Amino acid sequence: MSRRTDRSRHTDRSRRTDQLHLNAFLKPPGEYLAAWRHPDTAADAGVNIREVLSFARTAEQAAFDAVFLADLVGVPFASEDVLSRVSVVNDSFEPTTLLAALAARTSRIGLIATASTSYNEPYQVARTFASIDHISGGRAGWNVVTSLNDGEAQNFGLDAHLDHATRYDRAEKFYDTVTGLWDSSDIAPPPQGHPVIVQAGASEAGKNLASRIADVIFSGIRDLAKAQEFYAEIKERTAAHGRDPDHLKVLPALSVITAPTEAEARDKLARLTELLPPQVALADLSYWLGGFDLSPYPLDGPLPELPVSNQSHTAQQQIYEDARRDNLTIRDLVRRVADDDRTITGTPQQIADHIEEWFHGRAADGFNVVFPYLPGTLDDFAELVIPELRRRGLFRTHYTGSTLREHLGLPGPSVAPGHVPAPYKEETS
Ligand SMILES: Cc1cc2nc3c(=O)[nH]c(=O)nc-3n(C[C@H](O)[C@H](O)[C@H](O)COP(=O)(O)O)c2cc1C
Repeated sequence: MSRRTDRSRHTDRSRRTDQLHLNAFLKPPGEYLAAWRHPDTAADAGVNIREVLSFARTAEQAAFDAVFLADLVGVPFASEDVLSRVSVVNDSFEPTTLLAALAARTSRIGLIATASTSYNEPYQVARTFASIDHISGGRAGWNVVTSLNDGEAQNFGLDAHLDHATRYDRAEKFYDTVTGLWDSSDIAPPPQGHPVIVQAGASEAGKNLASRIADVIFSGIRDLAKAQEFYAEIKERTAAHGRDPDHLKVLPALSVITAPTEAEARDKLARLTELLPPQVALADLSYWLGGFDLSPYPLDGPLPELPVSNQSHTAQQQIYEDARRDNLTIRDLVRRVADDDRTITGTPQQIADHIEEWFHGRAADGFNVVFPYLPGTLDDFAELVIPELRRRGLFRTHYTGSTLREHLGLPGPSVAPGHVPAPYKEETS
């Protein structure tokens, strides 16, 4: 047997027969901080229900598993000058309110919203997501977050954000209480039993929580080898919790700009990134480093040694790793933020190759697709990339189930018999 046959056999054996799960990360008017300045976006899209509904419908027509609404419960930047130049929390709907509106005006797509375990109470979260699960006929999902910054804490009467260990401990108990309420007779049992649980922790405590409770884990990992390592670790941890590893779907973030030719795609990216004011790029870098003010440090010097962030350990570590590996100054790092180096830019075939490599390489069960500006990058993904994925047999042509659990190929929760009535099914007339 030739080496070549060996290799192709290995490839064949490792090819997957299941299909991708795609989540549409909706952050109108786009994930890129200057998206609101783009001529093809509506600057007020974050608080414009017609715009948001149209994005959700495009994602539904393309048969995405779900739309996802992220949330911070406070603005990420202290500077009024910076805040006046961005469209973030200051300019977007509260996500569970928006989810209820989308639930009533879509019919198939899953609907995931973020709710913090640090700044809510379990009864209220259990009731809200049970209601949305009813309104949507079993399409609700809850992104369980512990929140990130001091500004969020201050909106809830605290001086500073809970420390990392305390907030994860609270998240563990919070989840148990919410699911306990769903399993009890205190709250009308949600149609899915439990709405789908999403988590995005990447620290030790975060991975532990996700592998115990989550149906879906989001990550921000960009490097294939690291994503494969993370995937294997999460699946092992899930099995160690006595769960079927296939019942936790790993969906890394994938920011995409695509066009029929590579040059056109690059041009689209360039026309977006020229819109970002430099002070916003610097503020964004400071935010992801944990809110430390970088302005006293020389732009052409190295990143100073900063205390470990109480915000996102993972984001801070990633920036340090990049800076050390590539010997970057603060100015270089700011340029990377401005250039949006996280976005994969290319033809639909190149994007599909990337997706296929990660999917068959067991780095991902699918992707949390991020749109730098809306609707342009969503429309392009739906019109150009989705058909290419379908041609390759990687993505569904239409929905076969009606609930988000069915789209994701997940079972219902294992609850004590008798606790939950038979799952709700929408009546057909
Ligand atoms: C794709 C993605 C989406 C996220 N969305 C939110 C969000 O909406 N709100 C939030 O407070 N944190 C969000 N996070 C942050 C995570 O919840 C978590 O705090 C972060 O990944 C750091 O994890 P760690 O605390 O375990 O280090 C998100 C993370 C990722 C990767």
